[in-house]
Amino acid sequence: MNVPFLDLTTQHKEISIDAHAAFERVFGKSNFILGEDEVRFEEEFAAYCGTKFAVGVNSGTDALVLGLLSSGIGPGDEVIVPAFTFIASASAVSMTGAKPVFVDSDEKTFTLDVDKIESLINKKTKAIMPVHLFGQTADMGRIMKIARKHNLKIIEDAAQAHGALYYQGAVKTASQGKKAGSIGDVGCFSFYPTKNLGAFGDAGIAVTNDKNIYRKLLLYRDNGRKSKYEHILLGYNSRLDTLQAAFLRAKLPHLDRWNDARRKIAKTYNTLLKDIVEIMTPMEADFSHHVYHVYSILVKNRDKVVGCLKSKGVGVMVHYPLPLHLQKAYKFLKYSKGDFPVAEKVSKQIISLPMHPVLTVEQVLYVTECVKNAVKQ
Ligand SMILES: Cc1ncc(COP(=O)(O)O)c(C=O)c1O
Repeated sequence: MNVPFLDLTTQHKEISIDAHAAFERVFGKSNFILGEDEVRFEEEFAAYCGTKFAVGVNSGTDALVLGLLSSGIGPGDEVIVPAFTFIASASAVSMTGAKPVFVDSDEKTFTLDVDKIESLINKKTKAIMPVHLFGQTADMGRIMKIARKHNLKIIEDAAQAHGALYYQGAVKTASQGKKAGSIGDVGCFSFYPTKNLGAFGDAGIAVTNDKNIYRKLLLYRDNGRKSKYEHILLGYNSRLDTLQAAFLRAKLPHLDRWNDARRKIAKTYNTLLKDIVEIMTPMEADFSHHVYHVYSILVKNRDKVVGCLKSKGVGVMVHYPLPLHLQKAYKFLKYSKGDFPVAEKVSKQIISLPMHPVLTVEQVLYVTECVKNAVKQ
C-alpha cells in the first residue's frame, strides 16, 4: 500500500465546483489586485478568528515581518522566539533588523517553554513570538501574563494553527475557547498549500484587534500607500492576490470539518500506538484544542524508522531535523550545541506521519502497523 504524506488532489475534489466558480468570478471582473473577493475574505477570516481586523498578504513569512514592523519592532530590539520551529518565525524577526533570542521547547508539547522566557528578558526585549507548533497553541495565558508584566508585544505565529483554540483556565467550553492568532497583539497565518487552510500558491494573513497595528499593516503591505501615489512610509508589495483570496473563500467554510477529521485521525493514531513503549505520541495540552497540522511521534532510532517506513510506501517527513540555533544562517548569533537540549533532542527523534483530512482508516491502520514493525527492528 502507498500512503502519501498529503493528498491535496483528493481533498480538493470536495471543493472543485466552488473553486472553479471562484476563478470564474475573479476572471469575470478582472479585478486581480485588492478586489472584492480579497476584501470579503479578510472580513470572513477576521470573523472566523474573532478579531476586528485582518490584512491579507502574500505569505506567512510576510505576515510575520509586517506584523512585527506594525508592532514597532525594528533594529536594536530583541524578540524571544522558540529554537524549535520553521526558520521563518526567526528570520522574520531578523528581516526587521531586530534580533531573535531563542528559547527552548516544552518537552511534551514542543511549543516554547514558558518557564524559560523571563530569564531572557532585558531592556532590549520588545516582544515574544509564541509559535503554535504543529496545530497546537502555546500556553497563551501564561505568556500574556509575562508580556503584560514586562510591557512586551505578542506576535503569534499561527502559520500552522488555523482554527486551533486556546482555552482560558483550561476550561474546555465553547465560550472559553479563543482562536489561535486572536490573543496577542497580532496573529500571523500562512496559507501555503499544505496548511490546514491552504491557497493554490503562496498567501498569508495577519489578524489583530488593534486599530493602529491594522492601519500600519495596510500601509506596509502596499508600498506605504495612503492614496494612489502618496506614500507615508517605506513598505513592501505584499498584497494577497484576489484570486487566492477567492479560492480561500471556497475553502474556509470547510476548515472546521477538515480540522475535526484531522482530530479523529490523530485519536485513532494515538489509540493504535499508545502501548508501544518505543514511541511517544503527541500530547494535547489541557488548555488546547489541537488541529494536528502535523501528527508527530518521537522514536529513538529515527533515521532507521524513517528509512523503513519509506521502503513500505509510507510518506513521512521530519519537522524539523535541525533547530534554528544550529542552522548555518544563524551562526552569527553564536549559539552552541547543547544550548537548547529539548529542541536538540526532539529534532533528532521526531517523525511526522501522514496526516490530512481524507486519510482513510485503512491507511491509518497500515501506517501504524508499519510504524510498530519499524521501531521493533
Ligand atoms: C511555523 C511557521 N511559521 C511561518 C511560516 C512561513 O509561512 P510561508 O511559507 O507562507 O511564508 C511557516 C510555513 O511553513 C511555518 O510553518
